[in-house]
Amino acid sequence: MQISDDDIYQTTDYSPEQMDTAFAEFNRIQPEYETTHILDKLREIEYGRLDWQDQIYLDYTGGGLYADSQLQKHVNLLRCNVFGNPHSQNPTSSAMTHLVERARKCVFRFFRASPDEYVVIFTPNATGGLKLVGEAYPFTPGDHFLLTADNHNSVNGIRVFAGKKGAKVTYLPVRLQDLRVDEDELERLLDQARPDGHNLFAYPAQSNFSGVQHPLDWIDRAHDKGWNVLLDCAAFVPTNRLDLSKCHPDFVPISFYKIFGYPTGIGCLLARKDALNKLQRPWFAGGTIAIVSTQDEKWYCLHKGKDVYEAFEDGTVNYLNIPAVEIGLRHIDRIGMETIHERVRCLTGWLLGNMHAIKHRNGRHIVKIYGPRGTEKRGGTIAFNLSDAKGRSFDCGWVQDLASKAKISLRTGCFCNPGDGEVSHNITRERMAECFEGNNRNQEGTCKLIRDKEMASIRISVGLVSNFPDVYRFMCFVNDFRDKVAEQIPRVDISRVLRDRGP
Ligand SMILES: Cc1ncc(COP(=O)(O)O)c(C=O)c1O
Repeated sequence: MQISDDDIYQTTDYSPEQMDTAFAEFNRIQPEYETTHILDKLREIEYGRLDWQDQIYLDYTGGGLYADSQLQKHVNLLRCNVFGNPHSQNPTSSAMTHLVERARKCVFRFFRASPDEYVVIFTPNATGGLKLVGEAYPFTPGDHFLLTADNHNSVNGIRVFAGKKGAKVTYLPVRLQDLRVDEDELERLLDQARPDGHNLFAYPAQSNFSGVQHPLDWIDRAHDKGWNVLLDCAAFVPTNRLDLSKCHPDFVPISFYKIFGYPTGIGCLLARKDALNKLQRPWFAGGTIAIVSTQDEKWYCLHKGKDVYEAFEDGTVNYLNIPAVEIGLRHIDRIGMETIHERVRCLTGWLLGNMHAIKHRNGRHIVKIYGPRGTEKRGGTIAFNLSDAKGRSFDCGWVQDLASKAKISLRTGCFCNPGDGEVSHNITRERMAECFEGNNRNQEGTCKLIRDKEMASIRISVGLVSNFPDVYRFMCFVNDFRDKVAEQIPRVDISRVLRDRGP
Protein backbone atom coordinates (compact mmCIF):
# COMPACT_ATOMS: atom_id res chain seq x y z
CA MET A 1 0.00 0.00 0.00
CA GLN A 2 1.29 3.45 -0.92
CA ILE A 3 1.76 5.67 2.13
CA SER A 4 0.78 9.25 1.44
CA ASP A 5 2.38 12.31 3.02
CA ASP A 6 -0.86 12.86 4.90
CA ASP A 7 -0.36 9.53 6.68
CA ILE A 8 3.23 10.29 7.61
CA TYR A 9 2.83 13.91 8.58
CA GLN A 10 -0.19 14.12 10.84
CA THR A 11 -1.14 17.63 11.80
CA THR A 12 0.44 18.13 15.19
CA ASP A 13 0.88 21.12 17.40
CA TYR A 14 4.28 22.62 17.03
CA SER A 15 5.87 24.05 20.14
CA PRO A 16 9.46 24.46 21.32
CA GLU A 17 8.84 21.86 24.06
CA GLN A 18 8.00 19.23 21.45
CA MET A 19 10.98 19.84 19.22
CA ASP A 20 13.05 16.92 20.56
CA THR A 21 10.20 14.49 19.98
CA ALA A 22 9.69 15.88 16.49
CA PHE A 23 13.43 15.55 15.80
CA ALA A 24 13.38 11.88 16.83
CA GLU A 25 10.46 11.30 14.47
CA PHE A 26 12.23 13.22 11.70
CA ASN A 27 15.32 11.01 12.09
CA ARG A 28 13.12 7.95 11.82
CA ILE A 29 11.57 9.18 8.57
CA GLN A 30 14.79 10.67 7.14
CA PRO A 31 17.59 8.39 8.46
CA GLU A 32 20.03 9.81 5.87
CA TYR A 33 20.07 13.09 7.80
CA GLU A 34 22.42 11.46 10.30
CA THR A 35 25.08 11.16 7.57
CA THR A 36 25.22 14.97 7.32
CA HIS A 37 26.16 15.37 10.98
CA ILE A 38 29.42 17.14 10.07
CA LEU A 39 27.35 20.21 9.17
CA ASP A 40 26.17 20.63 12.76
CA LYS A 41 29.75 20.87 14.04
CA LEU A 42 30.56 23.22 11.19
CA ARG A 43 27.61 25.47 12.04
CA GLU A 44 28.74 25.64 15.65
CA ILE A 45 32.33 26.56 14.81
CA GLU A 46 32.02 28.57 11.64
CA TYR A 47 28.53 30.01 11.60
CA GLY A 48 28.04 30.50 15.35
CA ARG A 49 26.58 33.97 14.81
CA LEU A 50 23.38 32.39 13.52
CA ASP A 51 22.67 30.86 16.91
CA TRP A 52 24.15 33.65 19.08
CA GLN A 53 21.77 35.99 17.35
CA ASP A 54 18.97 33.46 17.31
CA GLN A 55 18.46 33.94 13.57
CA ILE A 56 16.42 31.51 11.51
CA TYR A 57 17.90 31.91 8.07
CA LEU A 58 15.65 30.60 5.31
CA ASP A 59 16.75 32.64 2.31
CA TYR A 60 19.62 30.60 0.86
CA THR A 61 18.25 31.08 -2.64
CA GLY A 62 18.61 34.80 -2.04
CA GLY A 63 22.17 34.46 -0.78
CA GLY A 64 24.39 31.86 0.87
CA LEU A 65 26.14 32.31 4.22
CA TYR A 66 29.90 32.51 4.72
CA ALA A 67 32.08 30.74 7.28
CA ASP A 68 34.28 32.71 9.71
CA SER A 69 37.37 31.00 8.32
CA GLN A 70 36.65 32.26 4.79
CA LEU A 71 36.92 35.82 6.09
CA GLN A 72 40.02 35.12 8.15
CA LYS A 73 41.85 33.45 5.27
CA HIS A 74 40.99 36.23 2.89
CA VAL A 75 41.93 39.03 5.27
CA ASN A 76 45.23 37.29 6.11
CA LEU A 77 46.03 37.00 2.43
CA LEU A 78 45.40 40.70 1.88
CA ARG A 79 47.28 41.74 5.03
CA CYS A 80 50.38 39.70 4.28
CA ASN A 81 50.84 40.57 0.63
CA VAL A 82 51.15 43.53 -1.70
CA PHE A 83 48.87 43.19 -4.68
CA GLY A 84 48.70 45.39 -7.77
CA ASN A 85 46.38 45.55 -10.77
CA PRO A 86 46.79 42.32 -12.75
CA HIS A 87 46.78 44.29 -16.02
CA SER A 88 50.23 45.67 -15.13
CA GLN A 89 53.43 43.70 -15.38
CA ASN A 90 55.39 44.09 -12.20
CA PRO A 91 55.99 41.95 -9.11
CA THR A 92 52.83 42.95 -7.26
CA SER A 93 50.78 42.60 -10.42
CA SER A 94 52.25 39.18 -11.19
CA ALA A 95 51.43 38.03 -7.65
CA MET A 96 47.83 39.06 -8.21
CA THR A 97 47.63 37.51 -11.68
CA HIS A 98 48.90 34.26 -10.21
CA LEU A 99 46.06 34.20 -7.66
CA VAL A 100 43.39 35.18 -10.18
CA GLU A 101 44.49 32.36 -12.49
CA ARG A 102 44.63 29.93 -9.56
CA ALA A 103 41.02 30.83 -8.71
CA ARG A 104 40.06 30.28 -12.35
CA LYS A 105 41.62 26.80 -12.25
CA CYS A 106 39.75 26.10 -9.06
CA VAL A 107 36.45 26.96 -10.78
CA PHE A 108 37.27 24.47 -13.57
CA ARG A 109 38.00 21.77 -10.99
CA PHE A 110 34.92 22.50 -8.90
CA PHE A 111 32.58 22.13 -11.85
CA ARG A 112 34.68 19.35 -13.44
CA ALA A 113 34.97 21.36 -16.62
CA SER A 114 37.78 20.67 -19.05
CA PRO A 115 39.89 23.74 -19.94
CA ASP A 116 40.07 22.26 -23.44
CA GLU A 117 36.31 22.61 -23.76
CA TYR A 118 35.32 25.48 -21.44
CA VAL A 119 36.41 28.98 -20.57
CA VAL A 120 35.82 30.65 -17.19
CA ILE A 121 34.94 34.35 -17.49
CA PHE A 122 34.75 36.30 -14.24
CA THR A 123 31.68 38.55 -14.11
CA PRO A 124 30.09 40.70 -11.39
CA ASN A 125 27.30 38.12 -10.87
CA ALA A 126 25.12 35.64 -12.79
CA THR A 127 23.28 38.54 -14.40
CA GLY A 128 26.59 39.85 -15.74
CA GLY A 129 27.23 36.50 -17.44
CA LEU A 130 23.72 36.45 -18.89
CA LYS A 131 24.13 39.94 -20.29
CA LEU A 132 27.39 38.96 -21.97
CA VAL A 133 25.57 36.17 -23.80
CA GLY A 134 22.40 38.15 -24.54
CA GLU A 135 24.08 41.18 -26.04
CA ALA A 136 26.57 39.19 -28.12
CA TYR A 137 24.58 36.18 -29.32
CA PRO A 138 24.48 36.63 -33.12
CA PHE A 139 20.70 36.61 -33.54
CA THR A 140 19.53 37.61 -37.01
CA PRO A 141 15.95 37.99 -38.33
CA GLY A 142 14.27 34.59 -38.32
CA ASP A 143 16.56 33.11 -35.65
CA HIS A 144 15.00 31.71 -32.51
CA PHE A 145 15.22 32.35 -28.77
CA LEU A 146 13.34 29.66 -26.84
CA LEU A 147 13.02 29.81 -23.06
CA THR A 148 11.02 28.14 -20.33
CA ALA A 149 8.50 30.38 -18.58
CA ASP A 150 10.13 29.85 -15.18
CA ASN A 151 13.31 31.74 -15.98
CA HIS A 152 14.67 34.51 -13.79
CA ASN A 153 14.24 38.04 -15.15
CA SER A 154 17.94 38.22 -15.91
CA VAL A 155 17.30 35.49 -18.52
CA ASN A 156 13.94 36.92 -19.59
CA GLY A 157 15.76 40.17 -20.39
CA ILE A 158 17.68 38.45 -23.20
CA ARG A 159 14.44 38.50 -25.19
CA VAL A 160 14.95 42.25 -25.64
CA PHE A 161 18.29 41.68 -27.41
CA ALA A 162 16.77 38.84 -29.44
CA GLY A 163 13.68 40.86 -30.37
CA LYS A 164 15.69 43.92 -31.42
CA LYS A 165 17.68 41.76 -33.81
CA GLY A 166 14.52 40.29 -35.31
CA ALA A 167 14.72 36.84 -33.73
CA LYS A 168 11.55 35.01 -32.77
CA VAL A 169 11.01 34.66 -29.01
CA THR A 170 9.02 31.68 -27.73
CA TYR A 171 8.13 30.78 -24.15
CA LEU A 172 7.65 27.15 -23.20
CA PRO A 173 4.89 27.32 -20.56
CA VAL A 174 4.94 25.66 -17.14
CA ARG A 175 1.94 23.63 -15.92
CA LEU A 176 -0.17 24.76 -13.00
CA GLN A 177 -0.09 21.45 -11.14
CA ASP A 178 3.68 21.13 -10.67
CA LEU A 179 5.29 24.10 -12.42
CA ARG A 180 7.14 21.71 -14.73
CA VAL A 181 6.90 21.74 -18.52
CA ASP A 182 5.21 19.40 -20.93
CA GLU A 183 8.04 17.39 -22.50
CA ASP A 184 6.08 16.78 -25.73
CA GLU A 185 5.69 20.52 -26.11
CA LEU A 186 9.41 20.96 -25.50
CA GLU A 187 10.19 18.40 -28.22
CA ARG A 188 7.82 20.15 -30.62
CA LEU A 189 9.48 23.52 -30.00
CA LEU A 190 12.99 22.14 -30.22
CA ASP A 191 12.03 20.83 -33.65
CA GLN A 192 11.49 24.44 -34.69
CA ALA A 193 15.16 25.39 -34.68
CA ARG A 194 16.02 27.43 -37.73
CA PRO A 195 18.22 25.27 -39.96
CA ASP A 196 21.71 26.79 -40.19
CA GLY A 197 20.48 29.71 -38.06
CA HIS A 198 21.36 30.81 -34.54
CA ASN A 199 19.04 29.17 -32.04
CA LEU A 200 19.36 29.72 -28.32
CA PHE A 201 17.46 27.70 -25.72
CA ALA A 202 17.55 28.95 -22.10
CA TYR A 203 16.31 27.23 -18.96
CA PRO A 204 17.13 27.15 -15.26
CA ALA A 205 18.70 23.98 -13.88
CA GLN A 206 16.59 24.88 -10.83
CA SER A 207 13.79 27.41 -10.66
CA ASN A 208 14.43 30.07 -8.03
CA PHE A 209 10.66 30.16 -7.42
CA SER A 210 9.42 26.57 -7.31
CA GLY A 211 12.66 24.65 -6.77
CA VAL A 212 11.81 22.56 -9.87
CA GLN A 213 14.90 20.96 -11.38
CA HIS A 214 14.59 20.49 -15.11
CA PRO A 215 16.36 17.50 -16.69
CA LEU A 216 19.96 18.05 -17.75
CA ASP A 217 19.47 15.59 -20.61
CA TRP A 218 17.57 18.36 -22.42
CA ILE A 219 21.02 19.77 -23.24
CA ASP A 220 22.01 16.94 -25.58
CA ARG A 221 18.53 16.81 -27.06
CA ALA A 222 18.65 20.51 -27.84
CA HIS A 223 22.18 20.29 -29.24
CA ASP A 224 21.12 17.46 -31.55
CA LYS A 225 18.34 19.67 -32.91
CA GLY A 226 20.58 22.66 -33.60
CA TRP A 227 20.34 24.78 -30.44
CA ASN A 228 22.90 26.43 -28.23
CA VAL A 229 21.94 25.89 -24.61
CA LEU A 230 22.10 28.48 -21.85
CA LEU A 231 21.70 26.65 -18.54
CA ASP A 232 21.07 29.11 -15.72
CA CYS A 233 22.69 27.45 -12.72
CA ALA A 234 22.50 30.34 -10.24
CA ALA A 235 19.92 28.62 -8.02
CA PHE A 236 21.13 25.06 -8.69
CA VAL A 237 24.83 25.05 -7.82
CA PRO A 238 24.58 26.05 -4.13
CA THR A 239 23.19 22.63 -3.20
CA ASN A 240 23.71 20.37 -6.21
CA ARG A 241 26.75 19.02 -8.00
CA LEU A 242 27.13 20.47 -11.48
CA ASP A 243 29.44 18.12 -13.39
CA LEU A 244 30.44 19.62 -16.71
CA SER A 245 32.25 16.44 -17.72
CA LYS A 246 28.82 14.76 -17.86
CA CYS A 247 26.67 17.49 -19.37
CA HIS A 248 27.83 20.14 -21.80
CA PRO A 249 25.68 23.29 -21.84
CA ASP A 250 27.14 26.14 -23.90
CA PHE A 251 26.68 28.92 -21.37
CA VAL A 252 26.47 28.57 -17.59
CA PRO A 253 26.03 31.73 -15.46
CA ILE A 254 26.73 31.55 -11.72
CA SER A 255 26.93 33.91 -8.71
CA PHE A 256 29.46 32.79 -6.09
CA TYR A 257 27.79 34.47 -3.10
CA LYS A 258 24.87 32.10 -3.58
CA ILE A 259 27.18 29.11 -3.01
CA PHE A 260 29.36 30.28 -0.10
CA GLY A 261 28.16 33.74 0.90
CA TYR A 262 31.38 35.69 0.50
CA PRO A 263 32.43 37.61 -1.49
CA THR A 264 29.51 39.29 -3.19
CA GLY A 265 30.17 41.00 -6.50
CA ILE A 266 31.74 38.06 -8.32
CA GLY A 267 30.19 35.46 -10.57
CA CYS A 268 31.33 33.65 -13.63
CA LEU A 269 30.19 32.56 -17.01
CA LEU A 270 31.38 29.09 -17.94
CA ALA A 271 31.23 28.99 -21.71
CA ARG A 272 32.07 26.34 -24.26
CA LYS A 273 34.80 27.65 -26.50
CA ASP A 274 33.06 26.90 -29.78
CA ALA A 275 29.86 28.62 -28.62
CA LEU A 276 31.82 31.58 -27.26
CA ASN A 277 33.54 32.02 -30.59
CA LYS A 278 30.13 32.63 -32.16
CA LEU A 279 29.47 35.66 -29.99
CA GLN A 280 29.87 39.14 -31.41
CA ARG A 281 30.59 41.69 -28.73
CA PRO A 282 28.77 44.99 -29.24
CA TRP A 283 31.67 47.08 -27.97
CA PHE A 284 35.20 46.95 -26.67
CA ALA A 285 36.55 48.00 -23.32
CA GLY A 286 39.80 48.11 -21.41
CA GLY A 287 41.25 44.63 -21.16
CA THR A 288 39.33 43.18 -24.12
CA ILE A 289 41.28 44.55 -27.07
CA ALA A 290 44.54 43.71 -28.81
CA ILE A 291 45.00 47.19 -30.30
CA VAL A 292 42.93 50.29 -30.81
CA SER A 293 43.61 53.52 -32.71
CA THR A 294 41.96 56.85 -31.99
CA GLN A 295 43.22 58.34 -35.28
CA ASP A 296 42.05 55.55 -37.49
CA GLU A 297 39.10 54.56 -35.28
CA LYS A 298 39.96 50.91 -35.78
CA TRP A 299 40.54 48.17 -33.26
CA TYR A 300 41.22 44.47 -32.96
CA CYS A 301 39.48 42.61 -30.19
CA LEU A 302 41.11 39.81 -28.32
CA HIS A 303 39.11 36.82 -29.30
CA LYS A 304 40.52 33.57 -30.50
CA GLY A 305 42.94 31.17 -28.91
CA LYS A 306 44.24 31.61 -25.43
CA ASP A 307 42.88 35.15 -25.01
CA VAL A 308 39.31 34.05 -25.35
CA TYR A 309 38.15 34.73 -21.77
CA GLU A 310 39.96 38.07 -21.63
CA ALA A 311 37.86 39.27 -24.55
CA PHE A 312 34.83 39.06 -22.25
CA GLU A 313 36.20 40.49 -19.00
CA ASP A 314 35.48 44.20 -19.35
CA GLY A 315 37.91 46.45 -17.51
CA THR A 316 39.64 45.35 -14.35
CA VAL A 317 38.24 42.24 -12.71
CA ASN A 318 37.38 42.34 -9.00
CA TYR A 319 40.91 41.15 -8.35
CA LEU A 320 41.27 41.53 -4.60
CA ASN A 321 38.13 39.48 -4.05
CA ILE A 322 38.78 36.75 -6.61
CA PRO A 323 41.13 34.82 -4.27
CA ALA A 324 38.18 34.60 -1.87
CA VAL A 325 36.39 32.58 -4.57
CA GLU A 326 39.11 29.95 -4.36
CA ILE A 327 38.85 29.99 -0.55
CA GLY A 328 35.07 29.54 -0.81
CA LEU A 329 35.24 26.72 -3.33
CA ARG A 330 37.81 24.86 -1.23
CA HIS A 331 35.57 25.32 1.80
CA ILE A 332 32.65 23.68 -0.02
CA ASP A 333 34.90 20.92 -1.35
CA ARG A 334 36.05 20.09 2.17
CA ILE A 335 32.44 19.74 3.32
CA GLY A 336 31.37 17.88 0.18
CA MET A 337 28.56 19.00 -2.11
CA GLU A 338 26.91 15.59 -1.71
CA THR A 339 26.60 16.13 2.06
CA ILE A 340 25.05 19.56 1.58
CA HIS A 341 22.69 18.15 -1.03
CA GLU A 342 21.57 15.32 1.24
CA ARG A 343 20.86 17.60 4.18
CA VAL A 344 18.86 19.96 1.99
CA ARG A 345 16.90 17.03 0.56
CA CYS A 346 15.99 15.71 4.03
CA LEU A 347 14.95 19.09 5.40
CA THR A 348 12.99 19.95 2.25
CA GLY A 349 11.14 16.63 2.42
CA TRP A 350 10.17 17.27 6.04
CA LEU A 351 9.11 20.83 5.28
CA LEU A 352 7.00 19.85 2.28
CA GLY A 353 5.27 17.08 4.23
CA ASN A 354 4.57 19.22 7.29
CA MET A 355 3.59 22.34 5.38
CA HIS A 356 1.12 20.34 3.38
CA ALA A 357 -0.29 18.51 6.39
CA ILE A 358 -0.86 21.45 8.72
CA LYS A 359 -4.53 22.40 8.77
CA HIS A 360 -7.03 24.67 10.45
CA ARG A 361 -9.45 23.00 12.84
CA ASN A 362 -12.08 23.03 10.10
CA GLY A 363 -9.83 20.88 7.91
CA ARG A 364 -8.65 23.57 5.50
CA HIS A 365 -4.99 23.63 4.58
CA ILE A 366 -2.99 26.55 5.97
CA VAL A 367 -0.25 26.37 3.36
CA LYS A 368 -0.70 26.37 -0.38
CA ILE A 369 2.54 25.16 -1.94
CA TYR A 370 3.38 26.10 -5.54
CA GLY A 371 5.31 23.43 -7.39
CA PRO A 372 6.13 19.78 -6.70
CA ARG A 373 5.23 18.31 -3.33
CA GLY A 374 7.91 15.64 -3.30
CA THR A 375 11.71 15.92 -3.26
CA GLU A 376 12.11 14.13 -6.60
CA LYS A 377 13.77 16.45 -9.13
CA ARG A 378 13.42 19.53 -6.98
CA GLY A 379 15.69 21.56 -4.73
CA GLY A 380 15.31 23.23 -1.35
CA THR A 381 13.30 26.27 -2.44
CA ILE A 382 9.61 26.32 -1.52
CA ALA A 383 7.14 28.98 -2.70
CA PHE A 384 3.76 29.18 -1.02
CA ASN A 385 1.02 31.32 0.49
CA LEU A 386 -0.66 31.06 3.87
CA SER A 387 -4.46 31.01 3.98
CA ASP A 388 -6.84 31.59 6.84
CA ALA A 389 -9.57 29.25 8.05
CA LYS A 390 -11.92 30.66 5.42
CA GLY A 391 -9.43 30.05 2.61
CA ARG A 392 -8.38 33.69 2.17
CA SER A 393 -4.68 34.37 1.72
CA PHE A 394 -2.88 36.27 4.43
CA ASP A 395 -1.23 39.38 3.08
CA CYS A 396 2.38 38.57 2.24
CA GLY A 397 3.56 41.87 3.69
CA TRP A 398 2.01 40.92 7.02
CA VAL A 399 3.60 37.53 6.95
CA GLN A 400 6.95 39.11 6.14
CA ASP A 401 6.64 41.52 9.07
CA LEU A 402 5.66 38.79 11.48
CA ALA A 403 8.48 36.55 10.28
CA SER A 404 10.96 39.37 10.78
CA LYS A 405 9.70 39.82 14.32
CA ALA A 406 10.34 36.12 14.89
CA LYS A 407 13.85 36.58 13.41
CA ILE A 408 12.97 34.41 10.44
CA SER A 409 14.60 35.50 7.20
CA LEU A 410 12.31 34.54 4.35
CA ARG A 411 11.36 36.35 1.19
CA THR A 412 8.07 37.60 -0.20
CA GLY A 413 7.13 38.94 -3.61
CA CYS A 414 7.68 37.58 -7.11
CA PHE A 415 11.38 36.67 -6.77
CA CYS A 416 12.16 38.03 -10.27
CA ASN A 417 10.33 35.02 -11.67
CA PRO A 418 7.12 36.33 -13.24
CA GLY A 419 6.44 33.14 -15.23
CA ASP A 420 6.06 30.87 -12.20
CA GLY A 421 4.23 33.68 -10.36
CA GLU A 422 1.65 34.24 -13.10
CA VAL A 423 0.84 30.55 -13.42
CA SER A 424 0.72 29.87 -9.65
CA HIS A 425 -1.69 32.72 -9.07
CA ASN A 426 -3.79 32.20 -12.19
CA ILE A 427 -3.02 35.67 -13.47
CA THR A 428 -4.32 35.69 -17.00
CA ARG A 429 -2.71 37.26 -20.04
CA GLU A 430 -5.60 39.77 -20.10
CA ARG A 431 -5.03 40.75 -16.47
CA MET A 432 -1.32 41.26 -17.11
CA ALA A 433 -2.12 43.28 -20.23
CA GLU A 434 -3.91 45.83 -18.02
CA CYS A 435 -0.52 46.76 -16.63
CA PHE A 436 0.78 47.70 -20.00
CA GLU A 437 -2.16 49.55 -21.53
CA GLY A 438 -0.92 52.86 -22.88
CA ASN A 439 -3.71 55.13 -21.64
CA ASN A 440 -4.62 53.40 -18.43
CA ARG A 441 -4.32 56.09 -15.77
CA ASN A 442 -4.28 53.45 -13.09
CA GLN A 443 -1.49 51.58 -14.79
CA GLU A 444 1.00 52.07 -11.98
CA GLY A 445 -1.56 51.18 -9.36
CA THR A 446 -2.58 48.09 -11.31
CA CYS A 447 1.01 46.93 -11.63
CA LYS A 448 1.58 47.43 -7.92
CA LEU A 449 -1.64 45.63 -7.09
CA ILE A 450 -0.74 42.65 -9.25
CA ARG A 451 2.87 42.55 -8.11
CA ASP A 452 2.39 43.10 -4.38
CA LYS A 453 -0.99 41.44 -3.82
CA GLU A 454 -2.36 39.19 -6.55
CA MET A 455 0.93 37.61 -7.58
CA ALA A 456 2.87 37.79 -4.32
CA SER A 457 4.13 34.60 -2.69
CA ILE A 458 6.30 33.66 0.23
CA ARG A 459 9.53 31.77 -0.32
CA ILE A 460 11.71 29.83 2.06
CA SER A 461 14.90 28.05 1.06
CA VAL A 462 17.24 25.81 3.01
CA GLY A 463 20.96 25.45 2.37
CA LEU A 464 24.48 24.82 3.57
CA VAL A 465 24.05 25.01 7.36
CA SER A 466 20.29 24.70 7.76
CA ASN A 467 19.32 22.38 10.58
CA PHE A 468 16.24 20.78 12.07
CA PRO A 469 15.59 23.56 14.63
CA ASP A 470 15.47 26.08 11.75
CA VAL A 471 12.70 24.24 9.96
CA TYR A 472 10.89 23.20 13.14
CA ARG A 473 10.80 26.77 14.39
CA PHE A 474 9.51 27.85 11.02
CA MET A 475 6.65 25.36 11.42
CA CYS A 476 5.97 26.82 14.91
CA PHE A 477 5.60 30.16 13.14
CA VAL A 478 3.17 28.68 10.59
CA ASN A 479 1.29 27.01 13.44
CA ASP A 480 0.50 30.46 14.84
CA PHE A 481 -1.72 31.06 11.81
CA ARG A 482 -3.92 28.12 12.69
CA ASP A 483 -7.56 29.06 13.11
CA LYS A 484 -6.80 32.74 12.65
CA VAL A 485 -8.72 34.86 10.20
CA ALA A 486 -6.79 37.33 8.12
CA GLU A 487 -7.95 40.45 10.01
CA GLN A 488 -6.88 39.01 13.36
CA ILE A 489 -3.22 39.13 12.48
CA PRO A 490 -2.09 42.54 13.67
CA ARG A 491 0.13 44.61 11.43
CA VAL A 492 3.61 44.80 12.90
CA ASP A 493 5.55 48.02 12.88
CA ILE A 494 8.77 46.58 11.55
CA SER A 495 10.87 49.67 12.33
CA ARG A 496 9.91 49.27 15.99
CA VAL A 497 10.75 45.58 15.97
CA LEU A 498 14.19 46.25 14.57
CA ARG A 499 14.76 49.03 17.13
CA ASP A 500 13.67 46.81 19.99
CA ARG A 501 16.19 44.23 18.97
CA GLY A 502 19.09 46.56 19.81
CA PRO A 503 22.28 47.14 17.84
C1 LIG B 1 17.91 31.28 -11.20
C2 LIG B 1 18.56 32.64 -11.06
N1 LIG B 1 19.14 33.19 -12.13
C3 LIG B 1 19.75 34.38 -12.06
C4 LIG B 1 19.81 35.07 -10.89
C5 LIG B 1 20.50 36.40 -10.86
O1 LIG B 1 21.58 36.34 -9.96
P1 LIG B 1 22.35 37.67 -9.57
O2 LIG B 1 21.33 38.60 -9.00
O3 LIG B 1 23.36 37.23 -8.56
O4 LIG B 1 22.96 38.20 -10.80
C6 LIG B 1 19.22 34.54 -9.74
C7 LIG B 1 19.21 35.29 -8.49
O5 LIG B 1 18.51 34.99 -7.55
C8 LIG B 1 18.60 33.27 -9.82
O6 LIG B 1 18.03 32.71 -8.76
